[in-house]
Amino acid sequence: MINLKSNSEIERMREAGKIVRDTLLLMETLVKPGVTTKELDRAAYKYITSCKATPSFLNYNGYPASICASIDEEVVHGIPSGRRIEEGQIVSIDVGACIGGFHGDAARTFAAGRVSPLKEKLMKVTEQSFFKGIEQFKEGNRLGDISAAVQQYAEANGFSVVRALVGHGIGRKMHEDPAVPNYGMPGRGLRLEKGLVLAIEPMINAGTYEVAQLEDGWTIVTEDDMPSAHYENTVALTENGLEILTL
Ligand code: MF3
Ligand code: CO
Repeated sequence: MINLKSNSEIERMREAGKIVRDTLLLMETLVKPGVTTKELDRAAYKYITSCKATPSFLNYNGYPASICASIDEEVVHGIPSGRRIEEGQIVSIDVGACIGGFHGDAARTFAAGRVSPLKEKLMKVTEQSFFKGIEQFKEGNRLGDISAAVQQYAEANGFSVVRALVGHGIGRKMHEDPAVPNYGMPGRGLRLEKGLVLAIEPMINAGTYEVAQLEDGWTIVTEDDMPSAHYENTVALTENGLEILTL
């Protein structure tokens, strides 16, 4: 069931979105060689709670932290730990926050120091694939238009689209209908209408799209150990058209 949001509900989601955005801006200043992912998680927890918001991920299905920090071949859901970030790594940080009963959810991939040209390109293409997708986020289009645009751009640049994980509706719950795949066919799927709020989140791999889950029960890695990047925003279709709530 799709929960379309009223103007006043979208207004409340703007607040959650801003907190998520500002947490990611803080993360951007902190991601560098030598920092541990646990230190990043602490800083995110402190910031989100200082805003009187709740970290959406903490205790979600037993998840033990406020952010996901996924390094290099880790696709998503990396659990913060004492591991130190190293020069040349790319680090995807995923953040969720809830305030006034509504969630925001977004992710960025950051470079630690200088990274390889392949990783640079992967980060850029992943971010761009999101923007290709939201060009299609307008009334009358269908969900498949977004999915196909993301896929087309990522694959045209020589990368692959993760199939096993998808974006989602978002609102009073972090995960609502519909599922938002980053692959698909134009003209197919749900018709887009005012009040629809989605977390659109391309997960793009340098090599195969196949992924596996680590023994920790959370961390998703690429099957071939090639790097992966993630870029996500919470977006709303309002009476004034597309609005990115976490940017
Ligand atoms: N941002 C992730 C998503 O969109 C949520 C992380 S899963 C959690 O699905 F368990 F860590 F919360
Ligand atoms: Co999400």
